[in-house]
Amino acid sequence: MGHNLIELSKNNLKSQIVGIEPFLNGVASVIYSCVKQNIDNILVYPDPVEKFLEKYKKIFFKEIFILFPDPWHKKKHHKRRLVKLPFLKNIVKRLDKNGKLYFATDNQDYFESVQDCLYSKDFKKIPIVHKKIDVKHLGQTKYFLRAKKLGNKVNFLVIVKS
Ligand SMILES: C[S@@+](CC[C@H](N)C(=O)[O-])C[C@H]1O[C@@H](n2cnc3c(N)ncnc32)[C@H](O)[C@@H]1O
Repeated sequence: MGHNLIELSKNNLKSQIVGIEPFLNGVASVIYSCVKQNIDNILVYPDPVEKFLEKYKKIFFKEIFILFPDPWHKKKHHKRRLVKLPFLKNIVKRLDKNGKLYFATDNQDYFESVQDCLYSKDFKKIPIVHKKIDVKHLGQTKYFLRAKKLGNKVNFLVIVKS
């Protein structure tokens, strides 16, 4: 965690940026960058995002980024993936009107499963538009660069709450 967060904080000095990361090394690395670069508009929540959503029900976001969530390649581990239908419905509810949720992965199966969720009947009730977007809209995160190095195709998606 960190690259996109730091970029966002520098490009949106008047905004509060929330970084959510349960892995202690990731949290420490962001705090280190903030101290070194005098960044004071990042709040770090050191627990899983599901816990954050449950605890802070009144916080809504202009933009949410889920970039390269753990892919859990093996079929028997797919149930461990973060972005599944209940989570997706829950997190889209936490966007402001016209808010955007960005999702990126280099795992084709993961990408297709998220697209399937968006075409499901549950999402017919939630007013959203979703489209594939160009890579240059998002920061070059560690896992984005890793995917490029491995020659993996990266898929990006943006969901706009209307
Ligand atoms: C594959 S890494 C991608 C990191 C970064 N987004 C990137 O693109 O380089 C996945 C990250 O998601 C974090 N993660 C896993 N489960 C999570 C959860 N439930 N809530 C928030 N973050 C989670 C992991 O600790 C890890 O830092």
